Amino acid sequence: MAPLVLMGIFATIAPFIYIYLSRRAEERILKEQRRYQDTLRQASVGMTRIRDMQKLLKLIVHIVTRAVQLDYAGIYLLDRENSYYKLVALRGKGPARMLSYVKVDDPLVKCLLEEKEPLVSEEIGRRPQQNKPAVELEKLNEQLTLLSACVVIPSFVENNLLGFLVLGDKRSGAIYSQDDLNVFTVLANQAALAIDNARFFEDAKELQEQISQAEKMATIGTMADGLSHQINNRFYALSLIAGDTLDTVKLTDTTSYTSEQRELLNQIKYALERIQSNVVSGGEIVKGMLKYTRKGEEGFSAVALDKIIDSTLEMVQYKIKLSELDIIRDYPRDTPAINGNLTQLQEVFFNLIDNAYDAMVERRETLKEPGYRGKIRIYTESSGNGYLKINVEDNGIGAKHEDFRKMFTPFFTTKVSSKKGTGLGLYVIKKIITSNHYGKISFESTYKQGTKFILELPLAAIREETVQ
Ligand SMILES: Nc1ncnc2c1ncn2[C@@H]1O[C@H](COP(=O)(O)OP(=O)(O)OP(=O)(O)O)[C@@H](O)[C@H]1O
Ligand SMILES: [Mg+2]
Repeated sequence: MAPLVLMGIFATIAPFIYIYLSRRAEERILKEQRRYQDTLRQASVGMTRIRDMQKLLKLIVHIVTRAVQLDYAGIYLLDRENSYYKLVALRGKGPARMLSYVKVDDPLVKCLLEEKEPLVSEEIGRRPQQNKPAVELEKLNEQLTLLSACVVIPSFVENNLLGFLVLGDKRSGAIYSQDDLNVFTVLANQAALAIDNARFFEDAKELQEQISQAEKMATIGTMADGLSHQINNRFYALSLIAGDTLDTVKLTDTTSYTSEQRELLNQIKYALERIQSNVVSGGEIVKGMLKYTRKGEEGFSAVALDKIIDSTLEMVQYKIKLSELDIIRDYPRDTPAINGNLTQLQEVFFNLIDNAYDAMVERRETLKEPGYRGKIRIYTESSGNGYLKINVEDNGIGAKHEDFRKMFTPFFTTKVSSKKGTGLGLYVIKKIITSNHYGKISFESTYKQGTKFILELPLAAIREETVQ
């Protein structure tokens, strides 16, 4: 009887014990989840205050892998030219061959853009709403396998997919709960804001550096203006003194002189002539300096493109061998004239052709393609808004993507070896085009293929008669 009663009691309370125990276990898991979810939530709050991009990215992957105990976490971020998502931070043991970038038209990116929510690799294909063709799903799966991704969490700023967070397996082997995904989504969106912020600060810092560089140049310019005046006055005085003395020497009656005295006088004459010729070239240098720094409308008139190119080529031939390349002038004879300063525009085309030539030489020397010949094509387009678009296209070595943003900054040069550049050519060009002529300049370039500079210059109001 007694055992029966005991069994009865046990049968009654056993389910309760089971429920109690499983609840305890669940609570423990939940507690653990809540702990790291709290850590993540807290972390996402402070994130926007960090302005150093590298620190921020490292911090994000660090927090995620530590708090949730993951195999690995990686961040892919849209590059500034919006052409691909680049792996910018990685922590833990990722796949053996981690993808360094993911293209913008990759099925993974497409899927994140469409669904705007975390992608769980296990669920792909199971979700009916995806409605994707099998080929695309297969590609998506392939990509996730390559990335060893368990979950991919998109980071949006407004509707732009700024990047995504790739998470590996949890070390505990547990699966990701819906709650986890929610917390990660908050974190990823906070991270996106923080990254956006950090980028803004980086840009502002760079801009500040550029401004102070430009200010330095402007100061040099103002100084040069003042200095050149004074230097020119001194040069003038020197040339007068040298000229007068030379006249006196030339008029001196040397018949009673000894041969030594005559030799001495000849030497003095030679020295005075050298002083005179140096004064003349010194004056030229000062004039050249002024050319860069003077601004204003003086010397502005209707200038024909053909005339600019003609006179530029005349100057350029002293520096480069024009027979080594083809210069194709691909614009109509009646191209409307530009409202500009001939000397300054010569400077622009001189520097552009000079750069194109250097790029060709570099291509010839690095790529060693048989039969390669340098070519510069100058062609125009009417932009229809009172501006003339002039393209200067070369088939030189081209610029590397990472250098694009630095090209117009003063003192940026890649010519370090034999042909040292000062890195001022494009800076001066930009200044002449934008501040002096109120025009525009941009470029397109492909490494190992060539570069095209696109200038937009204002057309002259009155054409025919006043063309120089
Ligand atoms: N046509 C081009 N093709 C490829 N790279 C170019 C071209 N023009 C400019 N660059 C790149 O931009 C950099 C800056 O050009 P920039 O004319 O300002 O200076 P530089 O030619 O190096 O020196 P400098 O003109 O003072 O002698 C160059 O060093 C080169 O890397
Ligand atoms: Mg140059």
